[in-house]
Amino acid sequence: MADNVIVKKSSIHGKGVFALRDFKEHEYVLTIDDAHVVEDESQLTPEQHEFEVDYLSDRIVFMQEPEKYINHSCDPNVYIKTEDGIRHVYAMKEIASGEEITFDYSINGDNDGTFECHCGSEICRGTYQGNFFKLPIELQKKYLPYLDTWFSKKYEQEIKEIKNK
Ligand SMILES: C[S@@+](CC[C@H](N)C(=O)[O-])C[C@H]1O[C@@H](n2cnc3c(N)ncnc32)[C@H](O)[C@@H]1O
Ligand SMILES: [Zn+2]
Repeated sequence: MADNVIVKKSSIHGKGVFALRDFKEHEYVLTIDDAHVVEDESQLTPEQHEFEVDYLSDRIVFMQEPEKYINHSCDPNVYIKTEDGIRHVYAMKEIASGEEITFDYSINGDNDGTFECHCGSEICRGTYQGNFFKLPIELQKKYLPYLDTWFSKKYEQEIKEIKNK
């Protein structure tokens, strides 16, 4: 895993994660370390909320390097799948060595967070918002294969409705 990516300054925001080699579509990129559980959410600062923690279905965790530096893009190149309770990151499409690794944070998103997006992609939505179900319906459909298992299970009914639209 350590040989797959590197953390360095990003043109999107702060630090980002960059590929150290080429990846094929659906190829494994890295494993997310979700072992550092936040015991008391009320003790978190606003900065920790924005940059250091991740809200999972059953707990809040302090993100670890390198994954804590993965920026959002409206034209992402990786997705997450939980397998045996562990989250793995896979390539959504071919990634060339040197490219920034990006998620669309709205995938698996069920929160009301927002920020002005600087992803720079041609299909940038301008403002990031954290609720998957508020994305344009065509984008929801495109992202269905990339939803994580816990999200598909939690929102089974809503996802059935998307498929029928
Ligand atoms: C987990 S951090 C990502 C790493 C961050 N670049 C850093 O250096 O700490 C998530 C935060 O980075 C910022 N961010 C990530 N992607 C962004 C984007 N496309 N446009 C603007 N800000 C972004 C937002 O403030 C977001 O809440
Ligand atoms: Zn964008």
